Parts: sequence; C-alpha cells; structure tokens
Amino acid sequence: MTDLAKLESETLAAIAAADTLDALETVRIAALGKQGSVSALLKTLGAMSPEERQQKGPLINGLRESVSGAIASRKAGLESALLNERLAAERIDMSLPAPEAPQGSVHPVSQVMDELAEVFADMGFAVATGPEIEDDWHNFTALNIPETHPARAMHDTFYFPDQMAVDGKKMLLRTHTSPVQIRTMMTQAPPIRIIAPGRVYRSDSDATHTPMFHQIEGLVIDRGIHLGHLKWTLETFLKGFFERDDVVLRLRPSYFPFTEPSVEVDVGYSEVDGKRVIGGSEKWMEVLGSGMVHPRVIANCGLDPDIYQGFAFGTGVDRLAMLKYGMDDLRAFFDGDLRWLRHYGFSALDVPTLSGGVGA
Ligand code: PHE
Repeated sequence: MTDLAKLESETLAAIAAADTLDALETVRIAALGKQGSVSALLKTLGAMSPEERQQKGPLINGLRESVSGAIASRKAGLESALLNERLAAERIDMSLPAPEAPQGSVHPVSQVMDELAEVFADMGFAVATGPEIEDDWHNFTALNIPETHPARAMHDTFYFPDQMAVDGKKMLLRTHTSPVQIRTMMTQAPPIRIIAPGRVYRSDSDATHTPMFHQIEGLVIDRGIHLGHLKWTLETFLKGFFERDDVVLRLRPSYFPFTEPSVEVDVGYSEVDGKRVIGGSEKWMEVLGSGMVHPRVIANCGLDPDIYQGFAFGTGVDRLAMLKYGMDDLRAFFDGDLRWLRHYGFSALDVPTLSGGVGA
C-alpha cells in the first residue's frame, strides 16, 4: 500500500500547487477523470476477491475522498481569491455625490406622440414613418401639387442645392408628413390605416412657428370610405386625446391640393383664467387639416380610385401639446432649457395607456 500512500501524497501536492482553476481542473482529470489514476484504482475493486476487496476497498475509497475533498477546498479557495481580486479592481468611488433627484425627463413632444400612438392604436392604426430629407415628387408632385402650383411657394420650403438632386429629383426637407401617405400607398396594399408622426421643416420663425416642428398624419384607404368615417375618427381621436366627452367638432370646407373635398376642423373651447380649455362650443379654434384623398393622388400611387377611397388628416403635434398641457411659447419647446424641461417634462415611468389614462 505504499503505492497508494505515494499516489495520495503526490496528488495532494499537485492540488496544492495548482494556482489557477484551469490547472486544478487538469489535476482533477488526471486523478478522478475517466482515465484518471484514482479512477483506475477504483476499477480494480471489481476483479478482487471478497476478502481482498474488504481490505483494500476502504483504503481506495478513502483515497478518492481525500483527493476529491482536497480539490473542492482548493477550488473554493481559488474562487474566493478570484472574487476578492475582482472586488478590489471594481471598486466604486463612494465619495462621489449622488444626484439629489432622478435626472432627465421625457419631452412633452415625445410624450404626446406616445399618447397619439396609443389613442390611434386602439382604433387599429399602425405607425408609419418616412424620411425627413425628401424629394419634391413625394413632398409635392405626387400629392397633386405640380411645379407651378402656388402651394409650393406657400410651404416656405428648405431646398437642397440643385447639385444634390437624386435621380433627377430635387431634394428638400419635408414640409409636412403628407409624403408618408404616398410612401405608404406605394408599398402597402389596402386596407391601410396608418398614422405618421414626425419632424417637418419650414422656413418660418415667431412665437407660434419654428423652422422645425412636428406633425402627425393620418391615412385610411379602403373600399367605401366616406366623410362620415373621417368625422367619427377625428371625434374619437380628440375625445381620447383630451380625455373629455364634451369635445365638439366643427367641419369647414377648405382647400388642400391632395384632398377633395377638403375640410378644416375646428374644436370648441372656452377660456378659463386666460387659458384655453377644450370642450363645449363657446369658441372655436382650428386644429386639423383633412379631407377625402384626391382620386389623382390615389392614382399617382398605382391604386385604382374607382375601387379605393380614403381620408387623410394632418395636425401639429407641438400645438396639440401646447393646448393639452398649457404652454404658450412654441420656441421654448426646442431651447433645451432645463428649467422648462423640469417643469413640463414627464417621468420616464409615465407611459400613456388608454386604461391608465393618456393624460398627465
Ligand atoms: N399636409 C397638410 C399641412 O401640412 C395637412 C393635411 C394633411 C391636410 C392631410 C389634409 C390632409 O398643412
């Protein structure tokens, strides 16, 4: 049995000398692995006579236990050394001051866009997007605004230089979200029900106009769509958004090149302490442009206007935010003033849901 004692002392020495987990694993396999030295001894037990087994069995098993016990304790030691090393390296400087309150807030424009998406998702609308750098075909021509049309001049468009034309198309910063109507009709088959919130650009600046602002477009294309569907949709949208049942709409005939007939939509409000409160029909303000999609626009997108009809609408997201949350200067929206953001911003946890209320 001196062989056994020798094997034990050698193995225990190798375990003690293993200074990494990998080295220890090598020693373990050499002793206790399938082809290991201790395993080989254990296998000899089967061929022994009962008397011999009674004598050597406890010795060999004792060897296995002492080796596996030594490996386990060496492993625990190496692991805790490793952990201590990591803890020392990953020290956190606790002397850094903690912020007094959570920092950052959700901008009212983002919040209102989320609210709008929530209200319209409930009516089965998906969210669509398009590029802010557009070509004049999508922004104007396809929307029935040909080159000579006075509406082009009315949009105060930011054009890119002629050298930057793409495939002969003049590039510009989109002046409205209506080009997303075109992009959607050209890539999706009806029935279509989308909203498209996003940034738009016009060369204009005063208390109620900024060169960049936000619009939301709506588009429905299907068979048998009429003005009644438009009115119901806008009424349901505005009631949901302003969270009031007494929202009253007034539809006025208007003109947009891409809708026929076109309707401008006013919403009733009253003035309380100098602030506008939506509801009732005391006073009116315009909130939306809309109408039935012009048959020529539907045809421009490759659809048959004798089969498909639809309505579209567009409105300013910033203005909706101002109305709902009572801000009075649009320019402050884009100043990045922390005091303004702290006052009007929303908590990241304030996720609008219809069940929880889409309001503040
Ligand atoms: N695009 C129009 C604007 O910017 C709004 C609009 C959209 C009107 C859709 C009718 C239909 O003023």
